[in-house]
Amino acid sequence: MNAITPSERPEDLLAGLRHSLGPQAVLVGAEVPARNCNDWSASLPQTPLAVIRPTDAAGVSEAIAACRKARLPFVPQGGLTGLCRGAAPEAGWVAISLERMVGIEEIDRASATMTVKAGTPLETIQKAADEAGFFFPLDLGSRGSCAIGGNLSTNAGGNRVIRYGMTRELVLGLEVVLPDGTVMTSLNKLMKNNAGYDLKHLFIGSEGTLGIITRVVLRLFPKPRSTMAALCALNDYAAVVTLLDAARSGLGPLLSAFEVMWPDYWEVITARAGVRPPVAPGHGLYVLVEAQGTDESLDAPRFEAWLEGLMERGLLADAAVAQSLAQAQKFWAVRDICSEFGQVLGPHISYDIGLAVARMDEFATRCKAALATGIAGCESVYYGHIGDGNLHLVAWVTGLAVERQPKEAMDEIIYGLVREMGGSVSAEHGIGTLKKKWLGHARSEAEIALMRTLKAALDPAGLLNPGKVI
Ligand code: FAD
Ligand code: LAC
Ligand code: ZN
Repeated sequence: MNAITPSERPEDLLAGLRHSLGPQAVLVGAEVPARNCNDWSASLPQTPLAVIRPTDAAGVSEAIAACRKARLPFVPQGGLTGLCRGAAPEAGWVAISLERMVGIEEIDRASATMTVKAGTPLETIQKAADEAGFFFPLDLGSRGSCAIGGNLSTNAGGNRVIRYGMTRELVLGLEVVLPDGTVMTSLNKLMKNNAGYDLKHLFIGSEGTLGIITRVVLRLFPKPRSTMAALCALNDYAAVVTLLDAARSGLGPLLSAFEVMWPDYWEVITARAGVRPPVAPGHGLYVLVEAQGTDESLDAPRFEAWLEGLMERGLLADAAVAQSLAQAQKFWAVRDICSEFGQVLGPHISYDIGLAVARMDEFATRCKAALATGIAGCESVYYGHIGDGNLHLVAWVTGLAVERQPKEAMDEIIYGLVREMGGSVSAEHGIGTLKKKWLGHARSEAEIALMRTLKAALDPAGLLNPGKVI
């Protein structure tokens, strides 16, 4: 066994970092804020040995060098809104937080790109794009708190995937610090660049297990000049699938969101969260359809005519159309309110299933029944980005603390059904540690073996976010 020499003592190395990166950059012991001890998932916090908060890639590299010397595991942290413990430290680890790496470095109008520091909150990026006359389409309920580096690392999905794709589609280049401390600057702005492997995709979606992203080049899009939204009530799921088909063909490239909510969701948000949606309860399903275009005077009448046609066909049981952007935002509040489920439901477990669109309702019906009969007192509600084949559900037993929630039993029922129905155990939130046991339900042995080979090649010491994902 190697003895730790004085120069490898964590306290000496952290003191050295405090000296070189500045006193604000290193928090230890009682200085470690509670927020850095966990992500947003329902799980127990763990206090890291230290939180290091560099302001650039060189600082991250220095922090990594110190961790390697002391053989301390280290975990990258963005906005800590992740839902699977990907950014959560274990006791004795070092958290490397990007929270001081914030700011827009450049907007290149000709390339339609924005270069940003990785700790910049998503909402700041959305606003900066808007002010510059562009649009950055990534949008999640956690927009105010999540950071773009976290969005890349989870390959976040969200509300506009149906039109613009996942985060992966919105990135042209990045800068990343590898687990050995090497800074790889690959701030590509070219739409077309087939010069060798496209290495950025190794780091996008790998949940901080292959490198720490420090800067990003994002694609910008033309700013929509019109936003149309309707909240629709339908009798059954067959009508939802017909509506999706009609939205794809009738709205074409304008279709920007297709969010579905089951009646149990409606019940929770109206009875427990006090929301007053513009459509009355008592229907089979609820759909928020959004379209965005370039000409208000043409797009809004076209959207309304499309909806009227569907009403006349008897496809919609009821519908409310937003008459202004403010009203459209109120419709979105009906969907975004699930970010307050923690206060409304108490401790609960979140799921983000990937599934064939056609089988969503069959899954929701079978899953709800199996949870209710298999686990005493287990309730569940269903909603999601159904246009993208992504169903969310939350499950809980009222009155039980986080650590007493029967997560294991819930997982078995839910992921058993996912496997049977050929779905994915994570459509957008990732694996972290909470879904690690179930990775094999959605990926083959060969796929997982290649993931392990990549991890071992980039991080042979196994100190970067060990035990996450694989
Ligand atoms: P963190 O939680 O800090 O980290 C997430 C993972 O990325 C961890 O594994 C971490 O180690 C790693 N990481 C963070 N920063 C870096 C970096 N710079 N370099 C390398 N690795 C890094 N997700 C969706 O996909 N779609 C949604 O619609 C959605 N809605 C949400 C709504 C709410 C209310 C909440 C609380 C969460 C939601 N999420 C959603 C989940 C979460 O917001 C996303 O996963 C988000 O992308 C995480 O960003 P973050 O900055 O908070 O990352
Ligand atoms: C959402 C999160 C839970 O879509 O992904 O609301
Ligand atoms: Zn989601």
